[in-house]
Amino acid sequence: MKVENPWKQNPWFESVAVAQQRARKRLPAPVYAALVAGSERGLTLRDNEAAFGEIGFAPHVAGQQAERSMATTVMGQDISLPVVISPTGVQAVHPDGEVAVARAAAARGTVMGLSNFASKSVEEVCAVNDRTFFQMYWTGDRDVMIQRMDRARAAGAQGLIATLDWSFSMGRDWGSPEIPEKIDLKTMIRMAPKVATKPRWLWQFGPRHIPDLTAPNLAPPGGDAPTFFGAYYEWMSTPPPSWQDVAWMREQWEQMSGKPFMLKGVCRVDDALRAVDAGADAISVSNHGGNNLDGTPASIRMLKPVADAVGEQLEVLLDGGIRRGSDVVKALALGARSVMIGRAYLWGLGANGQAGVENVLDILRGGIDSALLGMGLSSIDELHPGLFDIPDGFHRTLGAPA
Ligand SMILES: Cc1cc2nc3c(=O)[nH]c(=O)nc-3n(C[C@H](O)[C@H](O)[C@H](O)COP(=O)(O)O)c2cc1C
Repeated sequence: MKVENPWKQNPWFESVAVAQQRARKRLPAPVYAALVAGSERGLTLRDNEAAFGEIGFAPHVAGQQAERSMATTVMGQDISLPVVISPTGVQAVHPDGEVAVARAAAARGTVMGLSNFASKSVEEVCAVNDRTFFQMYWTGDRDVMIQRMDRARAAGAQGLIATLDWSFSMGRDWGSPEIPEKIDLKTMIRMAPKVATKPRWLWQFGPRHIPDLTAPNLAPPGGDAPTFFGAYYEWMSTPPPSWQDVAWMREQWEQMSGKPFMLKGVCRVDDALRAVDAGADAISVSNHGGNNLDGTPASIRMLKPVADAVGEQLEVLLDGGIRRGSDVVKALALGARSVMIGRAYLWGLGANGQAGVENVLDILRGGIDSALLGMGLSSIDELHPGLFDIPDGFHRTLGAPA
């Protein structure tokens, strides 16, 4: 008779914080640090999470609703909970990378946002999640951008996310992890001491035990995928976009696909109004997860002024700092149609692959449901700011038009 070890750790985790602890334990230190990311002092990174803690609940003691609903739509896609996967470019932390995340999102009924710098191709990802939005940076010349957009369209992408909030600010006060140019034998030997402590992590990459650090969605037709650094160099050397360029990108995408367009990284009311003028169907109020200009307020502080200004004209999403279902509910109350998550699912992926990402989505779903129950609501549609305890001065209105 096979005796089960009763002390074996259950791979299921109860909170995103526990997923993060597990990912930290499981991943080599530089890999974990690459997921933490952040810039300069880390002020925005910390505020993105901490600001949610300033908003309080006012729960009912009785009279709650037995049935509660949280399904909605984002850019025409039905989703079973108001949480979508924000694109992130470092999913080679797991051999299945973006494919595992896309499968988890599909299993839990939501949208996969796929990064321009993804380690898996848009074809592989769309094959496992037919609700994939492809993300583009402003990189390469116009012909190259059209070719990449058209490839995503042909693969089945259902929307385009233009991420433009990036200022190439590199320094971190806590130091950046080493990311090798290419993972060859020489690099493996040099980095061995950092990775050898996590043999289980390395072993999962199969016979060669080498994670791939290329960007297949930036490969020229019939050509090889550039390395991550090759891709970063192209991006750095591309002149930044104007508002006409944003309108151009939206127009190209609309003409070739007829599918919606999101501008991700909006912090200011004036920019949100310009996004409306440029024809965007959605915006994501986001500071790139605290990876752009440090000192930008938490996304949740900037949400309401933006949503009040443009919420009738396009879909407003909130991205940054979401770690629990109650955070999602607060964002929806302040005007978001849905939230986007980054590190939360990266911790799940690092801790337990596809099942870990599903676990994170289940934690968020459970937390949203608890919050609705406690507040006596039957649907996310009933959420509004008046139901919460929000301190004076919480909201930050940036770029209010004169
Ligand atoms: C490690 C890492 C890589 C990221 N890569 C991308 C990317 O390739 N494209 C993009 O649009 N945003 C990228 N982001 C930003 C996320 O899409 C998202 O805006 C951010 O993670 C949200 O904050 P959160 O992590 O607190 O949820 C990245 C974020 C992290 C942490």
